[in-house]
Amino acid sequence: MSELRSTVEDSILARAISYAQCWEDPALLQAALAVGPGDHVLSICSAGDNSFALAMAGASSVTCIDLSFPQIALAELKLAAVRALPVQSVRSMFGLGHFGRRVWFYHYVRDNLRPEVRAYWDHHEELIRLGLLGQGRFERYLDTFRTRVLPLVHGRDTIDAMLACTSLDEQRTLYAERWDTWRWRGLFKLFFSRFVMSRSGRSPEHFAQVEGAVADRFLARAKHALTEIPVSDNFFLRWMLTGEHGDLELGPPWLTTEGHAKLRAAADNLSFVHASLEDYLPRAAKSFRKFNYSNLFEYVPAAHHVALLDLSIQHAAPGARLAYWNLLVPRSRPASLAERLQPDPELAASLLARDRAFVYGGFNVETVT
Ligand SMILES: C[S@@+](CC[C@H](N)C(=O)[O-])C[C@H]1O[C@@H](n2cnc3c(N)ncnc32)[C@H](O)[C@@H]1O
Repeated sequence: MSELRSTVEDSILARAISYAQCWEDPALLQAALAVGPGDHVLSICSAGDNSFALAMAGASSVTCIDLSFPQIALAELKLAAVRALPVQSVRSMFGLGHFGRRVWFYHYVRDNLRPEVRAYWDHHEELIRLGLLGQGRFERYLDTFRTRVLPLVHGRDTIDAMLACTSLDEQRTLYAERWDTWRWRGLFKLFFSRFVMSRSGRSPEHFAQVEGAVADRFLARAKHALTEIPVSDNFFLRWMLTGEHGDLELGPPWLTTEGHAKLRAAADNLSFVHASLEDYLPRAAKSFRKFNYSNLFEYVPAAHHVALLDLSIQHAAPGARLAYWNLLVPRSRPASLAERLQPDPELAASLLARDRAFVYGGFNVETVT
């Protein structure tokens, strides 16, 4: 299967942090997979957050896999911090608290890291000083939107008014009366065009499988987030508009007080694999009951998607479930696997409609039959 290696992430993104946070809604994953005791989970690591959420839900084991070593190093650093530090200090270390203590906290936990992970962070200590949760390539792109584009569109008062809405009716009224201006539509579409995105937030290879213009699709998804999904607990939207999570008890689960305690209790159930799925699955020692595949099929041809599903089924326990997103490329259970994989399009669509990370065009929940 090594010819199926994902060349995109391998060659372009593997050297730097691509995602310092997971930009996929953990609530969807849990609703789709219903992870609990007895489940062995295979989860794309990315920034770690969603794999942590699955461990916090009670999984017997969560194997976090990523072909990018920096992503593995990031997730291991987060977990080491959770094990060693109280929740307030973890927040500070990752850039959400007092500026001066970030590196100090890193030095407090660094002895607990594996040598390769420690070497990576010793080399990138500056990212910790800058506030690690904002330092992925994707977060920096969002930061450019927030600091360079958004101020040309809306004043802080309009943004604050949107985030203070307490009902969907209020959101819709504000959207219609103050938010949906020609400047909003024009600058948003420019910034989230294929041309600009492939030169900053993502790479041209990320669009290799994408057909048609992309900006209109993202604009419609932003409208959905602002008018159909409550803003009050949408930490994804809040970060995009303000660069902060606001009330962290409503933020990413691993950074809440309760989540921190649960993750610390579940920490021994997490393990990390630096490899591609294509290389790892054929040699996996166990079969899995739940699979979180992020939106990784986005970047590979249709035949590769089929081959990876096929390989996953071979390493799946009976009744196993898979969940994965589509961003711009439609990838769902192919007809050739109809006998072995049962999709649940109704559940997936109803979950996608309330996806707080809102940028995705599709969500898939599939069960091994
Ligand atoms: C698929 S990306 C998507 C993240 C996020 N949804 C986004 O697009 O903004 C998440 C992670 O998957 C990893 N990844 C992609 N293809 C992989 C593969 N075939 N095997 C293992 N990891 C993979 C990447 O290195 C990355 O860290």
